[in-house]
Amino acid sequence: MWGKLAHLTADAVLVSTVLAGIKRNTGLQPKTSAIENEDIRSYIQKYLNVGEWVLDNSIVYLNNSDYFERKN
Ligand SMILES: *[C@@H]1O[C@H](CO)[C@@H](O)[C@H](O)[C@H]1NC(C)=O
Repeated sequence: MWGKLAHLTADAVLVSTVLAGIKRNTGLQPKTSAIENEDIRSYIQKYLNVGEWVLDNSIVYLNNSDYFERKN
């Protein structure tokens, strides 16, 4: 039960991070403005923010890693 929940959470965070990455690269993001229900909209925005947070922290981590270099 908990294992499955952890798995689902990890997947959800991964998807959110990919979406944040796409947003960084292309400016494209899910059209949350089309969601009429305010509660759901703010919930989805929080979910997307998790991805941004993970992305930011991954970048800081990779930036400080010896195994990654900047090429551009
Ligand atoms: C990466 O690290 C360098 C040196 O510590 C720092 O100057 C730079 O701002 C960092 N870049 C990012 C994107 O965090």
